[in-house]
Formats: sequence, structure tokens, C-alpha cells
Amino acid sequence: MTTRGTAAYDHAGDLPELVAAAVAAARRAGFGNSCGPEHGELLRTLARGIGPGTIGETGTGCGVGLAWLASGAHPGARLVSVEHDPAVARVAAAVFAGDPRVEILTADWRALVRHGPFDLLVLDGGGHGKQGGEPIDVDVWLRPGGVLAIDDFTPSRGWPPLHRGQPDHARLHWLLHPAMLTTELRLTPSSASLVGRHTGIRTV
Ligand SMILES: C[S@@+](CC[C@H](N)C(=O)[O-])C[C@H]1O[C@@H](n2cnc3c(N)ncnc32)[C@H](O)[C@@H]1O
Repeated sequence: MTTRGTAAYDHAGDLPELVAAAVAAARRAGFGNSCGPEHGELLRTLARGIGPGTIGETGTGCGVGLAWLASGAHPGARLVSVEHDPAVARVAAAVFAGDPRVEILTADWRALVRHGPFDLLVLDGGGHGKQGGEPIDVDVWLRPGGVLAIDDFTPSRGWPPLHRGQPDHARLHWLLHPAMLTTELRLTPSSASLVGRHTGIRTV
């Protein structure tokens, strides 16, 4: 089993400076739910592909995933992340105090839509549709061609993908979405992320 969250960095090798700062801040704050280094590497790669575009994230936490994104993002990119817990948002804001590309909102995840549409959107604290939550409307949130990333799935072993023995409706929503080309990437033997691209074909 792969170690998850902030603890996954206990044995991680060299990290980008901003990521190391965010991990240290998360440890000091006792925040355990940071994205793992494998998903972080994926986020950095996806951010590199965006150029001077707009990157969004729901669920900032202490800013570890956002730090991976910022480490790959173009100097002219804009990154906006939303976190509803003010104490956690303050920790993240301190990490990015020196990076004018980054803005952290203290609000419910739905407030992020006003800063879009996004070229890259990471759903980690709302909008992904897990646990019966409401998934975003991709036609509103993403630019045509925009990319979506969601982590923290267990790798599928067959079809349909299962969650606790039942069809995983959140994952199926994205894999079968008519306006998205989505795939599941296995990043460790026990964890997977979804990455999708808006085709530009509107569904309404
Ligand atoms: C998995 S953690 C985020 C980890 C972070 N993205 C990272 O990569 O380190 C999920 C975060 O979403 C936040 N969250 C949960 N519900 C939310 C909501 N309705 N609106 C905004 N943030 C929310 C939680 O407070 C928590 O910090």
C-alpha cells in the first residue's frame, strides 16, 4: 500500500522549492490530506502544458498541489485556488506570498467559477462529484480544450470501475461524459487519477 497524503513526502526525494515549503507548512499545521508526490508530478506536467493560461483548483489545503502546479506553470500563468477553511487557507496564502501569479480565495468551491473559464482545473475540494456531491458543469468551468484532473481513486481492475464493491458513479460520470475525453492514469500500484480534456463540443 502506498503511503498517502502529507506523510507520503517523508521519504520523497528532491522537491521543487515551493513544494518543499508547502509540505513543511502542512506538517507544521498538522494537515495530513495533501496530494501525494506522484499526483503532484502529474499536476506539474499538466501545468507546463498550459502556457500563459488560467489554472484553477478547488480545495487548496496547505497548498501542496498548488505548489506543484505553480512549479510547472508559465511565468505569465494565473493560478486561483479556493479553500473553505480560513485557517488552512491562511497557511497556504503564506506559502505563496512571494508569487504574484497565485491567488487563494477563502470561500466555498463554487466561488471559483467566477475566475474561469479554466485551461486547467484540479478538483480536490468540491466539484468532482464524489460522495454524492455536485459535479461541475464543464461547459461553464472549462475553456474548450481545457483539462480537468481529479486524484484519489483506486485503480480500476475491470468495468465498470467499483467503489466499495459498487459501480463508482463519480468516476463513471467523468469517463463517460459526452463533452470530455477522460482517462484513468495509475500513478502508484494503489492510486489513480483521472485526466480529461473538454472536446469543445457543448452538451447543451
Ligand atoms: C484533499 S484536501 C486538498 C489537498 C490539496 N489540494 C493538496 O493538493 O495538498 C481537500 C481540501 O478541500 C477543502 N474543502 C472541502 N470542502 C470544501 C468546500 N465546500 N469548498 C472549498 N474547500 C473545501 C478541505 O478543507 C481540504 O483542505
